[in-house]
Amino acid sequence: MKENNTPKTIRLSEYQAPNYLIDTVHLDVRIYEHYTDVISHLAVRANPDVPTASGQPLELVGVELELLGIEQDGATLALDHFRIDGEVLTIKDVPDQFTLLIMTRIHPKQNTSLEGLYVSKGMYCTQCEAEGFRKITYYLDRPDVMSRFTTRVEAPKQAYPVLLSNGNPVERGDLDDGRHYVIWEDPFKKPCYLFALVAGDLSVVEDHFTTSSGRDVLLQLYVEPHDLDKCEHAMDSLKRSMAWDEEVYGREYDLDIYMIVAVSHFNMGAMENKGLNIFNTSCVLANAKTTTDMGFQRVESVIAHEYFHNWSGNRVTCRDWFQLSLKEGFTVFRDQQFSADMGSETVNRIDDVNMLKTVQFAEDSGPMSHPVRPDSYIEINNFYTTTVYEKGAEVVRMIHRLMGKDGFRKGSDLYFERHDGQAVTCDDFVQAMEDANGVDLTLFRRWYSQAGTPHLKVTSEYVSDQNQFSITFEQTTLPTPGQPEKLPLHIPVAIGLLGADGKDLALQLSDGTVLDPLNPVLELKQAKQTFRFNGIKEQPVASVLRGFSAPVKLFYEQERAELAFLMSHDSDGFNRWNASQRLTVEVLLDLMSAYQEQKPLYVDSLLLESFRALLADESLDQAMVAKMLELPTEQFLAELLPKPVQVDAIHHAREGLKRELACGLRQELQQVINRCHMDPEYHYNVDAVAKRSLRNVCLAYVMTLADDEATELCLSQYREAGNMTDQLAAFRALAHSERSEKTQVIADFYQQWSSEALVVDQWFMVQASSPQPDALDNVQALMQHEAFEMTSPNKIRALIGAFCNNNPVNFHRLDGAGYAFLADQIIALNNINPQVASRMSTILTRWANYDRVRADLIKAQLTRIKAEKLSPDVYEIVSKALN
Ligand code: ARG
Ligand code: ZN
Repeated sequence: MKENNTPKTIRLSEYQAPNYLIDTVHLDVRIYEHYTDVISHLAVRANPDVPTASGQPLELVGVELELLGIEQDGATLALDHFRIDGEVLTIKDVPDQFTLLIMTRIHPKQNTSLEGLYVSKGMYCTQCEAEGFRKITYYLDRPDVMSRFTTRVEAPKQAYPVLLSNGNPVERGDLDDGRHYVIWEDPFKKPCYLFALVAGDLSVVEDHFTTSSGRDVLLQLYVEPHDLDKCEHAMDSLKRSMAWDEEVYGREYDLDIYMIVAVSHFNMGAMENKGLNIFNTSCVLANAKTTTDMGFQRVESVIAHEYFHNWSGNRVTCRDWFQLSLKEGFTVFRDQQFSADMGSETVNRIDDVNMLKTVQFAEDSGPMSHPVRPDSYIEINNFYTTTVYEKGAEVVRMIHRLMGKDGFRKGSDLYFERHDGQAVTCDDFVQAMEDANGVDLTLFRRWYSQAGTPHLKVTSEYVSDQNQFSITFEQTTLPTPGQPEKLPLHIPVAIGLLGADGKDLALQLSDGTVLDPLNPVLELKQAKQTFRFNGIKEQPVASVLRGFSAPVKLFYEQERAELAFLMSHDSDGFNRWNASQRLTVEVLLDLMSAYQEQKPLYVDSLLLESFRALLADESLDQAMVAKMLELPTEQFLAELLPKPVQVDAIHHAREGLKRELACGLRQELQQVINRCHMDPEYHYNVDAVAKRSLRNVCLAYVMTLADDEATELCLSQYREAGNMTDQLAAFRALAHSERSEKTQVIADFYQQWSSEALVVDQWFMVQASSPQPDALDNVQALMQHEAFEMTSPNKIRALIGAFCNNNPVNFHRLDGAGYAFLADQIIALNNINPQVASRMSTILTRWANYDRVRADLIKAQLTRIKAEKLSPDVYEIVSKALN
């Protein structure tokens, strides 16, 4: 464990090009029972682009390595020629060009950080992004050092028949003592964060893809034998991703083989290592029996995401880690476009925006707020954030909107062509967009450097005798850590004006500009701006920020009746949904005050009748109907509504609303459930997913009543369901109820699925998110369950993460037991897996959003954690939270 007394802050402003480059790397990785030896052969030369490089000492980094020996140009390096100081190995007096041979010993079986080379359920695998390669050997572990890798992997043949690394296999053979080896060659130079190695006893599913230029690519998916029945969807998604990237971006795959390996112990979702992706099992395995529709969607999008990185990330990579969003924001945008093309564009957009508003907006208003391109960090792993990923994707989406589809493609073509094989910056991306389109995005660049969510206040006025509708926007961004003053941003606001018949009116500004009817956008560039539309013959209803055209908080007062009107007429699906959410929030606010004043709950009939109409209308997109019926989550409301967060009022208002709606709409709900009957066969397609989601939203409503009839409905669905989507929905509804039947069902579900790790995760998750008051006790008991493992990030997320993130009313208990529980787990995890510990600790950074009592309780736990000997990961979060 690194000491936390002086953790170093790394700053973008201090970036310097490397003094040395490494042209080729020959790695020889020899796996033995108790340790692994790594012999690294490097061809090093002084960086010709850095005039002062020649004669400088070479500084390599390494973490937790045992140095066995080191040779320069074939001769053992004398002890006075190098020095190891903490993580830095310094070699003095090196020539401008030379070779190094470095022998190190590591202990993968003891590596619970899941970074570098480690063992997951008996299988050796690697995770090198961001800085894990330094846990394998001494190296210039930075993304602007790109090398050609040859990797020889050697291991006992029986236990590890499969030996993989990046690129193409060029040689294999047997050795004495039952050992064997394989040599892999990657023809593309790459930074070491894209290095990967796997050794294990794995089964493989194979397929082929023919690229647009006619090259055949072998596709391989490596899994545990037991998971062979869960590979089809990932393989299919991969082929669709490859075809899509050719069609939409003109990007072809470049190696003869593309491998994906599923591992159960993995810190994140997946990793785009060149030619050898490593995936969390949760993001690659899927079949109808064990995986929900949401799981299928996740697999499809993560497979696409990692595949797309081959161009946006690997062929063109990041100069330094401050540029992380260059590859992540762009690639998330690309995977979102892909998912939209594969399924329902509107429903995908709704899900993405919901997540952005719930998680990213919260991050952006707390102590960890940072720009899409951060200025500084202590631990880079802490910056794989929703700001870098999802807000970064929103920034790319805004460029897409401003350039238009064709203009964006011109820009991406230029970007890939200009920077192929290079390590570049976010600015290079914007520059390519500017150059390809002949536009100036100077002001727009502020989205990369300015943190915080802009507030956009909108007022409008209709002057009937002038046939004029004017709309005024005022943008402000609150201060964030290190950025007290904020500047106006370039904000594209997609807009529509609806006439009384619900149709979009033609939009002409008072200066004569006619807005593109297919993509009407107002471009804000100043703190305050007014736009006047002429020729508006009737009082319109404005639909502002269609498609959520910019990541801002919109403040625009509209009457409930206007919202209901938009809800049924807006030509923009996203805003139709958004209107229904806004109306729902208004009603929830009524209920929250009723709860606080201890008055009976009364639900505005406007909402009830709107929902009744939604349920009855079979001609509507059924997936959209399901989305509109889904109440905003408590976490979403906590972020949206004024602070301090009214934890209990939000919970009780929401539960109350569900019950009132269920009561008032029972017949209609039951009719939808009957109409959307369960199919004996599972198909993963838009209509089938829509039907299941609508049925299960209705089922959840009905079960809030928890009477005998509702319970019987759930029990029979639970028993008869032929797929996990329907089974889990019924299971959740029962498990979250007060019915005594649930005890048996909870036991039964585990019995049925105990051999499927990913289903057991769902089982933990459902129990951890139960609104019942015994949730924390149950979570604590489940920590002792045979299936729980403190070394498995999936298990930790399923139990501890789900409780702390998805169960606000229990996590924020007024006795502070939820906070103390989380702090205990963070302290334990800090030693086992700093990355996961640090992720968990971000939950505590939101203390300022809560009332005095809760805020003090949270701060007390942060203080308790801070007193421990911490990893830099946890230290950074906790110390920033207490600042
Ligand atoms: N680049 C991976 C992705 O596609 C994420 C890996 C990050 N891992 C980490 N330990 N920071 O999103
Ligand atoms: Zn990524």
